Amino acid sequence: MASVAPANVEATEAWSGPLFERFVQFRPVVADGLGAHGEAAIRAHPPEPGDRVLDLGCGFGDTTQRRAALVGSGGEAVGLDVSAPFVELARREAAEAGVTNVSFQVEDVQIAELPPAHFDYAFSRMGIMFFANSVQALRNVRAALRPGGRLCAVVWRRKLDNDWVHRAELVVDQYLEHPDETEEPTCGPGPFSMANADTVTEQLKIAGFESISLQRSDLPMKLGDDLDQAVEFTLAIGPAGEVLRLWGDRVDEIRPKIAREVREALAEFDGPDGVVAPASTWILSATAPTH
Ligand SMILES: C[S@@+](CC[C@H](N)C(=O)[O-])C[C@H]1O[C@@H](n2cnc3c(N)ncnc32)[C@H](O)[C@@H]1O
Repeated sequence: MASVAPANVEATEAWSGPLFERFVQFRPVVADGLGAHGEAAIRAHPPEPGDRVLDLGCGFGDTTQRRAALVGSGGEAVGLDVSAPFVELARREAAEAGVTNVSFQVEDVQIAELPPAHFDYAFSRMGIMFFANSVQALRNVRAALRPGGRLCAVVWRRKLDNDWVHRAELVVDQYLEHPDETEEPTCGPGPFSMANADTVTEQLKIAGFESISLQRSDLPMKLGDDLDQAVEFTLAIGPAGEVLRLWGDRVDEIRPKIAREVREALAEFDGPDGVVAPASTWILSATAPTH
């Protein structure tokens, strides 16, 4: 069992239990929806053949395998995730796919003991917003990069530019506040914790990175094949889903009403290709100093 920073213990419990289960349940939607955003990041900041790559908060490890393919047999990709079930699944799938230059470790990125100045490139798709102490985690990643090594990460921009998230949250907010007390573990600072460009730039600077840039990436995201699936997804994952999960069966009575209203709120995005909504991310990039 890897060491976890005390402040990340609760999030680790969430990512190893209820959130892992939800991501497995909605994997096709998550993988398709986030896939295009990850690919946009690769096009903007591709790793070089032969690079040693870290994948931070790698989840299912599909992005780790993708980077392993890009760096080729002369390089390697190492996926880190604090959730043991995610890592177990990622290892199994990479072995089944016969990928040999990839490995996975259960680690809390914030305090993982990584070889100093070893990696050429660190990547993350939606995996760096959940650390209790982002600066400590980013500093740890920077120390594992060789001088001139690069970081590239995809994070959500603000909720207002991800209207499907915002609409679902507005519906839930009418009925429920964040519960003061819950038996359920929470997921850490949350998916939108790195939406503010100034804050993230400052965090990267304090962590010792240089040549920091944040590039806006607006791409549609498919929420489901139909409205039923889109509503189920929206009420399972993301801020609206998180509040409902924390209330648990205490709010079973109003759940159908909330689902009906979210369905109305998402109807505008329903079309011939399924429910497709605008989505907006930052592709952030930064470099470890050369001196
Ligand atoms: C939204 S998921 C993204 C997963 C994957 N990168 C993808 O794009 O499908 C966030 C991931 O970050 C991981 N995570 C959260 N806190 C972490 C930490 N402190 N250290 C390492 N991984 C963490 C979670 O277990 C989860 O797999």
